Amino acid sequence: MERLDKVLSSQGICSRKEARSLAAKQRIKVNGEVIKKSDVKIDPEKDTIEVDGTAVEYRRYLYIMMNKPSGVLSASTDKKAQTVIDLLPPELRRSGLFPAGRLDKDTTGLLIITDDGDFAHNMLSPKNKVYKLYCAKLDGELEENKIKILESGITLKDGTCFKPARISLPNPNDRTIAEIEICEGKYHQVKRMFQSVGLTVIQLKRLRIGGLCLDKELFEGKSRILAPFEVKDIFNGKYD
Ligand code: URA
Repeated sequence: MERLDKVLSSQGICSRKEARSLAAKQRIKVNGEVIKKSDVKIDPEKDTIEVDGTAVEYRRYLYIMMNKPSGVLSASTDKKAQTVIDLLPPELRRSGLFPAGRLDKDTTGLLIITDDGDFAHNMLSPKNKVYKLYCAKLDGELEENKIKILESGITLKDGTCFKPARISLPNPNDRTIAEIEICEGKYHQVKRMFQSVGLTVIQLKRLRIGGLCLDKELFEGKSRILAPFEVKDIFNGKYD
């Protein structure tokens, strides 16, 4: 059981203080009954809540897909730079949200924002083999011998190891654009992998995580809530 005001604020409906005032004005109903005090205990999974006649759809955790634009930090807060959390529209804001895995400031594409720490851990842990697919624009041609190196795993001079990646060329006539799938998320991993075969990544976009593709209708900078089946798609084994 949880306090009504806490539930309402966790869902981004109003602050706890506002909940007190809404309740005093008899604008909140629980299971069809007007509630005058916002500190009553409710079961958010079972009880129905209405504010001004509109049902509150309770979500224990939120899973958001964002099409990250370039120039924005994958962080929850930053003193100077704009973060992906700053980009969320007011109706998707609630406390505890963070980006599940980082994209570099200049990387675009699919980013998951959630308040479910276990989910994020499972999605990011290389043990679970949730592959992330990136499209990289390179400053030169990705020849076959370089593909073989990337596909067999790389150890850098500093000892950093990158597991074997899956490489494909979306357009066989243009070897400067490559798709790369990896299940690790080491710092600047894709850029460093291409650098190790003598190529610089000029543009990088994440297209897919596990079985979940970036929604092509989602413009850069926009976000939307994931449906439960889409959250499951992330872990479906199609890409193992
Ligand atoms: N690899 C990178 O180098 N950068 C990213 O943003 C993601 C993966």
